[in-house]
Amino acid sequence: MRARPTDAVQFTNGSYHCIALHNLFQLVGYADVGVEDFRMANVRVRAATPADASAMSEILRDILALWRSDRPSNVSYVIAHCVEHPERLRCSVAVDRSGVVLGFQSLKRAKEGNAYGLPAGWGIIGTYVDAKAAGRGVGKALFSPSLEAAHKADLKEIDATIGQNNQSGMAFYEAIGFRTYRSKPGAICKNMS
Ligand SMILES: CC(C)(COP(=O)(O)OP(=O)(O)OC[C@H]1O[C@@H](n2cnc3c(N)ncnc32)[C@H](O)[C@@H]1OP(=O)(O)O)[C@@H](O)C(=O)NCCC(=O)NCCS
Repeated sequence: MRARPTDAVQFTNGSYHCIALHNLFQLVGYADVGVEDFRMANVRVRAATPADASAMSEILRDILALWRSDRPSNVSYVIAHCVEHPERLRCSVAVDRSGVVLGFQSLKRAKEGNAYGLPAGWGIIGTYVDAKAAGRGVGKALFSPSLEAAHKADLKEIDATIGQNNQSGMAFYEAIGFRTYRSKPGAICKNMS
């Protein structure tokens, strides 16, 4: 089970402190807001730029290492496949108050003959949040501009392909409205219409 934002707060030195949430709100001047507002107030989402690619690459590298995946994660890969991909509809980063990149999300349009075997014109989404920032609403915050871009581009469906053992990935996509529509060897595919 992951740590919940109501249980602990991570300070900049990386240590976790248990603290009553209402005390924390008073401490930082959010006495009149709820948990969701507090989480969002500390996360800003903006379009990714090549200058973000190094931080994005590090986040991706750490996640792939956990998965024991040999997929590429270097800076040029992140630029080519996310930030400046020719079929991208939106690539966003979430940053904290000091500008540190906490995670990113990429939404691309599937081309004819794409590697996922998707119909051309579907969306392909990927979300990667630094493990240290997980459970703080970063993934959810990243999804808003992607959804807006999907509507603007008139996408019929968005596909999220998730490793079959990736319980948090599945819970995340379910929570933002995706549902399972097919499975592939080693993966579950969820979509949103
Ligand atoms: C999966 C991932 C994107 C979630 O990002 P996140 O910022 O931690 O997610 P959020 O805090 O925005 O959570 C949004 C909702 O998703 C659900 N959720 C997310 N992680 C969860 C978990 N580990 N267990 C249960 N539910 C979870 C919850 O319903 C949550 O809402 P709540 O906090 O209000 O209950 C992130 O953990 C990650 O990058 N994992 C590694 C890469 C990955 O698996 N990517 C997705 C598949 S390719």
